Amino acid sequence: MKAIKKAVFPVAGMGTRFLPATKANPKEMLPVVDKPLIQYAAEEAVAAGIDTLIFVTGRNKRSIEDHFDTAYEMERELEAKGKEKMLEVLRSILPKHVNCVFIRQSQALGLGHAVLCAKPVVNNEPFAVILADDLINFSEQPCLSQMVDVFNYQHCSVLGTEVVPKEDVSSYGIVDGTEVKPGLMEVNAIVEKPDVKDAPSNNAVVGRYILTPRVFDLLETTERGAGGEIQLTDAIAALLSEQRVLSYNFDGRRFDCGSKLGYLKAQVEFALEHEEVGADFREYLLELAARNGSKVVPIAKNA
Ligand code: UTP
Repeated sequence: MKAIKKAVFPVAGMGTRFLPATKANPKEMLPVVDKPLIQYAAEEAVAAGIDTLIFVTGRNKRSIEDHFDTAYEMERELEAKGKEKMLEVLRSILPKHVNCVFIRQSQALGLGHAVLCAKPVVNNEPFAVILADDLINFSEQPCLSQMVDVFNYQHCSVLGTEVVPKEDVSSYGIVDGTEVKPGLMEVNAIVEKPDVKDAPSNNAVVGRYILTPRVFDLLETTERGAGGEIQLTDAIAALLSEQRVLSYNFDGRRFDCGSKLGYLKAQVEFALEHEEVGADFREYLLELAARNGSKVVPIAKNA
């Protein structure tokens, strides 16, 4: 089977959970410390050996294209002022060998529909899907690289999964299956946003997938499912009856940056690890905790 060289980034969603911040700006451009979410996702793809980034965009997403384009005026300005370090930051957003393709999803009909929009560019090869609002921190190897390793060994679709609290299963695609080895499971059922009482497990699919191109054919006939949307999960459920699909509990810490609380947690943890501000930020948090009698969070205004 061909190597994974293409990654699809569905970025056409409306981001309603983050309004009003996402009224005119894409949620994927929300920064965590100093980098937008979509750049973390692109870096994870490049680290996994991907050289073609396919963005499925919609209305109000122009800034994503601009982010990955050359900013000639800004570069000239920085050059003239001798700001070499900043110039390097601008120029190293993507390595030269990586290409970006932008496809428009004219209507936000769901994640499955967004992935299907990438079919003409992906063609007949296995590919990755990354949801940039699931930001995954790692200590040794980025999540998608781990999954590519699994794919290279097993030659089948691989879903990135995480065990979530039972009460949260109705927010995720949930898988069930047979353990191949610790952390790796052969999937025999997948269901989108089940009720807690119907969920086959609490092993949830998060925003990382490696899929075989057969999923495109299945998406073409996938009807609207949960939430009235064309769900990627439903096409994967159909894929299960034809091909082997694995779920992989990756090593890393995921932050749901599509939710306010997840985004705030990511800010704090990424800031604490940041080369430039990490030490000072840690000091600040300790000072804040001391000021509030060891309570990090100040008492709410109306309490
Ligand atoms: P979400 O379920 O997070 O939806 O989509 P959303 O619209 O982005 O956010 P909320 O729930 O309204 O706050 C999961 C991923 O699928 C993409 C989104 O951009 C996000 O990365 N998506 C979703 C599309 O690209 N197109 C769609 O039609 C739906």
